[in-house]
Amino acid sequence: ALKIKNLVKFQDDLEGKEINIKGWVRTVRKQKTLTFVELNDGSSLSSCQVVVDHASLPEEIVKEAQSLQTGASISVVGALKESSGSKQKYDFQLSSMSLLGACPPEEYPLAKKRHSLEYLRTLAHIRPRTNTVAAVARVRSKLAQSIHRFFEEEEFFLVNTPVVTASDCEGAGEMFRVTTLDLDDVSSVPKKEGEGGAPGKGADYGEDFFGKPAYLTVSGQLSAETYACAMGDVYTFGPTFRAENSQTARHLAEFWMLEPEMAFTEKDGAMDNVENMLKFVIGRAMEDCDEDLTFFDKFYEKGLKDRLKKIQEQDFVRLSYRDAVQMLEEEINKDPSAWQFPEVVFGTDLQTEHERWLCEKKFSSPVFVYDYPTGIKAFYMRQNDADGGETVAAFDLLVPGVGELVGGSQREERLDVLLERLDKLGLEKEDYWWYLDLRRFGTVPHSGYGLGFERLVTFITGIDNIRDAIAFPRYPGSAEF
Ligand code: 4AD
Ligand code: MG
Repeated sequence: ALKIKNLVKFQDDLEGKEINIKGWVRTVRKQKTLTFVELNDGSSLSSCQVVVDHASLPEEIVKEAQSLQTGASISVVGALKESSGSKQKYDFQLSSMSLLGACPPEEYPLAKKRHSLEYLRTLAHIRPRTNTVAAVARVRSKLAQSIHRFFEEEEFFLVNTPVVTASDCEGAGEMFRVTTLDLDDVSSVPKKEGEGGAPGKGADYGEDFFGKPAYLTVSGQLSAETYACAMGDVYTFGPTFRAENSQTARHLAEFWMLEPEMAFTEKDGAMDNVENMLKFVIGRAMEDCDEDLTFFDKFYEKGLKDRLKKIQEQDFVRLSYRDAVQMLEEEINKDPSAWQFPEVVFGTDLQTEHERWLCEKKFSSPVFVYDYPTGIKAFYMRQNDADGGETVAAFDLLVPGVGELVGGSQREERLDVLLERLDKLGLEKEDYWWYLDLRRFGTVPHSGYGLGFERLVTFITGIDNIRDAIAFPRYPGSAEF
């Protein structure tokens, strides 16, 4: 069957030829001599208008078409004929059809048209049939494919880093523990062999499966570093997990992260890579997803397409944390009562409110903030010598509407400095023996970053909530589908 998207694209070439399309019925409109069936197959926002001509078709077909219900799946054969209406250039003139699956209207949750995104989250299995959720899914797919394409063109290698790990990369203690089913709890274990469950009693599984406590990864960075320190430029792109108990529109418990890691590259080179990558993927989305972005521009964020175009054309602002704090201090001092967090002190993390002021109000541009205080950053970030180690060569990219989109750094490649830092933080050297080996055997300056993929999707589509940027969102209290 032809995709409806291609019908629209190649309509002049297809005119008059017999074609087959398949999809789900959106609406049925009955008139005296004609019935119109609006058919959508998810390949684009466009639906195909199937025209049922009562005079020229057998009565059973007309009856069947007229009894079609919203949500039913059908396969139709017919031809494109120039349209008499003004809405589209061509209509699809039906010659035969078959009903693949009926859809009882009294039970179908999308039988009526408009639903809030909140309500649709309770129907994660049905919501991709709506315009908004399908459009997000198409843009998301394009962004993922464009990321791979960018790194392929830049000659990076894709490395698949593990989901189960023993190390806490960020040291924030937000990990999910991995265990097997409790073998003594008979209710949770299939009784007979071959029922596809855990092995029978006696096997030394449970918490000791991996020989030590294991967790779902919060970041693939440490593993990616091992390959960067052997192959140069690599990236990993996969699911990561955080047991953060936050119910915000920017946090998920399971999210996808793009993590490039580059050998022989310093902090500035990593920021260049972020900027080039973002401009590339935004360009691909604007070229290939124009219909969907136009839809988001109209219904979700007025001016979205202009905003994306501008981002491609401007140089991102680069600002040290020290300068950022000073700018914020000055601004806050003008009217401290206007701020929910009127404190910005060197050495503490910027609040979301502060980050958004920088990129939305002060610069209205993506802003890199770099050289953060050592005390608030992870163990692996490279200490800056110029200020005696008061700051590390870290950077965040802040973007309008979202806040932090990317977090990265140059990595500490000097063994003695790294050992000292682990000591200071009270981290066990034994736990990082293999990570330290990278500094022992042919160490090199290297840098990388992590981009939160769902945050990118909200940034590009203008939708408000990160829970609508992923097919099956996981957050506290939600893992149903
Ligand atoms: O800043 P983060 O914690 O950095 C790291 O994990 C580094 N190890 C990455 C690296 O250098 N390879 O996370 C990176 C990005 C954030 O900037 C944010 O966009 C996203 O991941 N992120 C989340 N996205 C959704 N839900 C959450 N709970 C997120 N936590 C972080
Ligand atoms: Mg961060």
